[in-house]
Amino acid sequence: MELNEKEIAGFSKLNKRDKIYWLAKNFLYANPVEVLKEFAEYWHDNIESQKLLDGFSENTLTNFPVPFGIAPNFKINESIYAIPMVTEESSVVAAASNAAKFWLSRGGFKTEVISTKKVGQVHFIYHGDKAKLFKFFSEIKDDLKKSVQHITTKMEERGGGVVDMELIDFSMLEPDYYQIRAYFETVDSMGANFINSCLEEFGKQLADRVRQNTVFNDTEKDIEIVMSILSNYTPDCIVHVEVSCKIEELGTFDYGNMSAEEFAWKFQRAVNIARIDPYRATTHNKGIMNGIDSVVMATGNDFRAVEACAHTYACRDGVYRSLSECKVENGVFRFWMNLPIAIGTVGGLTSLHPLAKRSLELLGNPNAKKLMEIIACVGLAQNFAAIRSLTTVGIQAGHMKMHLTNILASMQANDEEVGKAKSYFSDKVVSVSSVREFLEKLRLKTT
Ligand code: MEV
Repeated sequence: MELNEKEIAGFSKLNKRDKIYWLAKNFLYANPVEVLKEFAEYWHDNIESQKLLDGFSENTLTNFPVPFGIAPNFKINESIYAIPMVTEESSVVAAASNAAKFWLSRGGFKTEVISTKKVGQVHFIYHGDKAKLFKFFSEIKDDLKKSVQHITTKMEERGGGVVDMELIDFSMLEPDYYQIRAYFETVDSMGANFINSCLEEFGKQLADRVRQNTVFNDTEKDIEIVMSILSNYTPDCIVHVEVSCKIEELGTFDYGNMSAEEFAWKFQRAVNIARIDPYRATTHNKGIMNGIDSVVMATGNDFRAVEACAHTYACRDGVYRSLSECKVENGVFRFWMNLPIAIGTVGGLTSLHPLAKRSLELLGNPNAKKLMEIIACVGLAQNFAAIRSLTTVGIQAGHMKMHLTNILASMQANDEEVGKAKSYFSDKVVSVSSVREFLEKLRLKTT
């Protein structure tokens, strides 16, 4: 096959330097030596550490640094945590820290894992008598479970395994389509490999057993397994988190001398808006996920899985809604959330990535349930901080402070310039051009 200049065969076989040279020539149109130098700046000094990172993915050229920060002062079920957060978004860690400090003196976060079931599916096509299939499935269900004993033994020793399974008829939506939905307990591991291995065996066993059984005719024996894979939707892997205090304990708010009472009702209104309007709900939940994803990332877990699940859960009753809820009642402000979070604290990147390992150490090496609780608290804290800003000073005040810091850094401002810029812009609109103009004038004066 002929390749044009931007196409290549065997890219993965090139070494790092040659990969970078090829990209510099064909996509960046830049000096390959310069490009190599730039990428190499982010290589790990320690060759072994770099090898480890390269092993996590394919065709790696370099590392992509993202800030690793700490939100201290989280009081969670009476224990205090300093929580690692990995995020590139300015003000996320600051917002979580502020909310943590706010609730520190108001009882902290109360949280509890409600359920820990994970889900997997075998999707298959069966042309034939439905009743026969359902009867057969109920007869072989226990045997199907036993057929994966070689996979489940270790998991069972740790308290997990296959919990249950059911046959679901989807043939009214897609011709001849049925599904085995299986439920698993994976204890402290995320359990993706465990679940997928069990599912593939269930699919094979089902097809073999139908083929070998004389109850089925030839058409019925022709079962087709379409796919076997875990579901990232885990509505029975739920953690509850809440904060509450007497309204007057909320304190007063600088903005327009807002009273605790006014704040409580306005806050509740803001959450209710996100419960009825999907446009607002999406942004509201994005704020929650700012916190959740950061801790999921810091602990080496799969943030795409947690994200996907949260959003499906947010529309479980047919309308996409806010994940959190708020009620002001009998003089008490209560803010809470129930959320599915399927994560692990053993296996995968949790023990391989040196910083994920450190994150877990910082959190006292929690089991998966405890980590679910911690993550949920950060999500609620993040949401509290966002709604508090939105309903009082507005989001730009805080964002602009961080924005200013970033712009100053990008313009290589020294400490003195940063101090002067911060006081100058305390009551002015921040933009790249206004900061540049300010710095230019300041630097002109100094020279
Ligand atoms: C920004 O990353 C997140 C917020 O927009 C969340 C919200 O609006 O609730 C501030």
